[in-house]
Amino acid sequence: MVTSIRRIGILTAGGDAPGLNAAIRAVTKSAILVHGWSVLGFEDGYEGILTGRARPLTLDSVRGLLPIGGTLLGTSNRTNPFWCALTELGDREPRDHSETLIRSLQRYELDALIVIGGDGSLSIAYRLWQLGVPIVGIPKTIDNDVRGTEMTIGFDTAVAVATEAIDRLHTTAESHHRVMLVELMGRTAGWIALYAGLAGGADAILLPEVPFSLDAIVEVIARRERAGRPFTIIAVAEGAQPRGGEAVYEVTGPQPYQRKYGGICRVLEEQLARRVRLEVRSMALAYLQRGGPPTARDRALATTLGSAAVDAVAAGAFGQMVAVRSDPHGRAMPSVVTVPLAEPARGPRLVPPNHPLLTAARRLGISLGEDGEVVDTTTGSS
Ligand code: F6P
Repeated sequence: MVTSIRRIGILTAGGDAPGLNAAIRAVTKSAILVHGWSVLGFEDGYEGILTGRARPLTLDSVRGLLPIGGTLLGTSNRTNPFWCALTELGDREPRDHSETLIRSLQRYELDALIVIGGDGSLSIAYRLWQLGVPIVGIPKTIDNDVRGTEMTIGFDTAVAVATEAIDRLHTTAESHHRVMLVELMGRTAGWIALYAGLAGGADAILLPEVPFSLDAIVEVIARRERAGRPFTIIAVAEGAQPRGGEAVYEVTGPQPYQRKYGGICRVLEEQLARRVRLEVRSMALAYLQRGGPPTARDRALATTLGSAAVDAVAAGAFGQMVAVRSDPHGRAMPSVVTVPLAEPARGPRLVPPNHPLLTAARRLGISLGEDGEVVDTTTGSS
């Protein structure tokens, strides 16, 4: 189906991620230069539609945006139009604002809306599409946990920042003969910790998908010490959990996704300090992973997905998300495809048990905190 489009809206929702501005630029430039459409940017995600905060995006307003982190439009990971309280709308308690949102979009006379979001914001987009809103999604999140795509905007930059941090921790850990724990973001998925842990030569990598045993970690540290390497670097995903135990998080609301992860490294620091001879230190890389300029790869990905999203709108492919998909036979370059928004709405994409990076880690003797591992005491750059 090909529709007649004159005016589109765009918003960024959820946590920010490096490359959002590059995506906004790509959408705006393709919409104007290829199709002659006008573009309206909503501020702070879905909140901008509900509270009437929008601004026209022109070729001038997106000039110079490519290397800039954050999002020109602002974002929010608190406003779910299906259940939120907005003081601007006189709310004291949360309520369903989806009808208000649809009416507001009609007032703006938009023919389509492009939502740049993670799994939460894209699930909202899916529900809005089911209510008749012509939506196309673009996947972004440093966590890389959006179903239906193999890569999200922001992930490459987060991995680069985390890898550099692990590189830097090596020299101080070795000098002080310490165990260093570094906590990396990702909520229930361990993609950042897995990629950065491997790239940075961590001695152990703890992921939510592979529950760990404290004994196994103690054993890694002890073996390395016995082998004359009295220091250990451990990359820990914020959602990592002990076997038979729970991840560390704060409940921020009644929905299952309303959890703020963080703190596992402090817990592990205390527990390990009681069990090992070496000093133990922990740190969380936190928002440094999300801030700052995008890598070249994220800029290229954001540009490709942004322009593909405009193509999808032109083709009337609503209810779809643009996505990266590898050739299953590994013969061709990954391609950009569209997948139904129902995919990201199915929940986060976790590291599968047979992922090649997990296999490589095990083969190289990098500990995943599993019992009975064959740990190489000379792994990585340690
Ligand atoms: O979804 C991206 C993410 O960076 C997660 O990895 C992290 O747990 C979360 O956002 C933190 O977000 P905030 O503190 O902004 O709510």
